Amino acid sequence: MRVLAFPDAVAQSRALADAAGCGHDLVEVHRFPDGESRLRLPVSLDEHLVLYRSLDHPDAKLVELMLAAETARTLGARRLTLVAPYLCYMRQDAAFHPGEAVSQTIVGRFLAGLFDAVITVDPHLHRVHRLSDAVPASSATALSAAPAMGRFLAAREPRPLIVGPDEESAQWVAQVAEGAGTDYLVASKARHGDREVQVSLPAGDYGGREVVLVDDVASTGRTLVGAARALLAAGAARVDVLVTHALFVDDALEELAAAGVGSVWSSDSVPHPSNAFPLASLLASALA
Ligand code: R5P
Repeated sequence: MRVLAFPDAVAQSRALADAAGCGHDLVEVHRFPDGESRLRLPVSLDEHLVLYRSLDHPDAKLVELMLAAETARTLGARRLTLVAPYLCYMRQDAAFHPGEAVSQTIVGRFLAGLFDAVITVDPHLHRVHRLSDAVPASSATALSAAPAMGRFLAAREPRPLIVGPDEESAQWVAQVAEGAGTDYLVASKARHGDREVQVSLPAGDYGGREVVLVDDVASTGRTLVGAARALLAAGAARVDVLVTHALFVDDALEELAAAGVGSVWSSDSVPHPSNAFPLASLLASALA
C-alpha cells in the first residue's frame, strides 16, 4: 500500500503514510493557463493505492481526482482508496426547489465510480444518515473527530460549556462534551441566505461561562458568528470555536473576531492556520 498525495496537503498525507507505516509519493500537477490540469503519477504503483485529498474548493479537485484515479488503474493499481478528510457537496442532500441538483447523490456516485473505498471524517450527513447511502462505494467509512476534539478540550480549566450552533450539530457536540467531561447545549438556527444566519439559544445559565462552540464545518463563519453574538449577549465570559473542517472562506475569521470570538481551533482536515490537532492516526486506523 502507498499513499499518493497532491501538492496541497503534503504534510498531512505524509503524516498519514507514517502513521499507517506505508510509502508516500506525490502526484505532479501542472495547471495550464486556461485552468486545465496535467497530472503525472509515479509509473510503478503499489497494488493498493491510497489517494489523499481533502475536498475543500472541490470543483477543480474533483476533475483532478478523476484523472488520477483513471491513470492509476491504467498503471496497474488494483485497489483504490480515497482518503478525503473533508468530503465536499454533502450538505445539498435534497432538492429544496424544483429542478435543483441533489449534489450529494451525484458527487457520491461519481466518487464511488472511481474508488473502491472512501474514508472521510465528520461528513455532513443530515437527512441521509449513512455515508454508504451517499457514497455507494464497496466500502464507505465515516470517521469522527469528536473524540479527538474531546481530548483536545479535556485539559481546559474551567471546564467549558460546549454549544452546538444548530440541531444538526447535536450528533457531534454530545460526543465532544463526553470526551471533555463537561456539559453541552444545542442551539437552533434559521438560515436566510449564504451569509444571513440567525441563532437562538436554548434556555440556560450562560452567565460567566466559558463556552466552546463546536461544529463540523465552518464556511462563511456566519453560523458561528450568530451563535457567538447570542452567547456573549446572554452573559458568556468567553467564546472560543472548535470545528473539524476549517473552510473559513473570505472574511470569516475577521467576522468571528469582530463578533468577540477568542480562539479558533480546527483539525488538520483542511490546511489552515487554526489547525490544532492532527487526524493522521484516526485515518490510519481506518486504513488498517
Ligand atoms: C450546516 O448545518 C453545517 O453544520 C455548518 O453549520 C454550516 O455549513 C456552516 O456554514 P457557515 O459557516 O457558512 O455558516
